[in-house]
Amino acid sequence: MKLIWPIRRSFVGYVRGSEGTVALGDGAEETEEGFVFQGIPRSSLAFVGSVHFQAHGGMLDVLIGDPAFAIDGEVGTLSITTGPGAARNTIARLTGIRDGDPASGQLLLTYEGTRLLGDVYEPGSPLDPFRIEHDDA
Ligand code: HEM
Repeated sequence: MKLIWPIRRSFVGYVRGSEGTVALGDGAEETEEGFVFQGIPRSSLAFVGSVHFQAHGGMLDVLIGDPAFAIDGEVGTLSITTGPGAARNTIARLTGIRDGDPASGQLLLTYEGTRLLGDVYEPGSPLDPFRIEHDDA
């Protein structure tokens, strides 16, 4: 399993355009389709890997690590860690779930998610769509 998710392209472009850095950790990769996070074996909805954004001389410092989905019927949430040992942070609500191969859905920022990203976006504004591919996809 792997999660393919651009996070939010406008944010990634903004960081890079501000002479910032986007550093990959724990096996995360970046492709044209988005960042790739590897699935944790025997867990269908938890992934490893981190993407660390830094800009403005360190004033912007956002780590998005180990994304995991929790699904409850038709809806769900996405949580991440912001660093080793940090508490998980529920940054988005998940709607429009399509449980296929690939699985997909829409992510809408929670208040916590807007805080993580510097209070710039409104709660309910979208992150980029993700998909989850099974190993033989
Ligand atoms: C010295 C500190 C900062 C400066 C000078 C700054 C400056 C800016 C500017 C000029 C924009 C508009 C960019 C555009 O429209 O292309 C912007 C957007 C943004 N900033 Fe900052 N910023 C700073 C700190 C931060 C911090 C600490 C965060 C998050 C933790 C942050 C998150 C964002 C986000 C999410 C956007 C919107 C990007 C988008 O989707 O287009 N900024 N900032």
